[in-house]
Amino acid sequence: KQKREFRESLLSWYSREKRDLPWRRTSNPYYIWVSEVMLQQTRVDTVIPYYERFIDKFPTMEILADADENDLLKMWEGLGYYSRVRNLQAGVREVVSTYGGEVPTNRKDISTLKGVGPYTAGAVLSIAHGIPEHAVDGNVMRVISRLLVIEDDIALPRTKKIFEEVVMDLIDREDPSSFNQGLMELGATICTPKPKCLLCPVRDFCIAFHERKQEELPVKTKK
Ligand code: ADE
Repeated sequence: KQKREFRESLLSWYSREKRDLPWRRTSNPYYIWVSEVMLQQTRVDTVIPYYERFIDKFPTMEILADADENDLLKMWEGLGYYSRVRNLQAGVREVVSTYGGEVPTNRKDISTLKGVGPYTAGAVLSIAHGIPEHAVDGNVMRVISRLLVIEDDIALPRTKKIFEEVVMDLIDREDPSSFNQGLMELGATICTPKPKCLLCPVRDFCIAFHERKQEELPVKTKK
């Protein structure tokens, strides 16, 4: 009832303010997959040129599946976490050999692919396929923890499930792609560790803002 207004505010802000990023100009699931793997531990500004070069060099899953490991690692040089790209190729090979070159459209099957965890699975399903699935990373946990004042320790693995359930309750079933990317964009640009609440499109819905405790959330022990 108030969820609808929250969705409308988030989606309208996202459609006005979203950054023009190369992977936002496509719904090719393979390209979305590549972008999400690169973005896992690397900033957007760093990723952009790597993404462009990678897609130029390996424009289809078949080409990536047949690529030489040395060429692969060369394209990744500087991004680090080289197991990411080896896993990506292994996952792509599984899609080509087992799924006829079609990225699975359900969480069970896509999650069997090498390197595809719950976040990447949800990102590809929602962004590329428009399927209402959660894609909860650290940024999204920060946003949601403030929105609803969820004080569970985000360093505990079992806390993630709580946030995934909240997102499934809130998600816009008409446009899960923009909804999930809107949460990511909010976490990246406004609902940052030092949040810019006066610019926030959903501050009227934010319990932490109302209680002036946004800077105390999320709760995170250790690390
Ligand atoms: N970080 C993770 N996924 C992202 C996306 N699709 N757009 C921007 N930043 C992201």
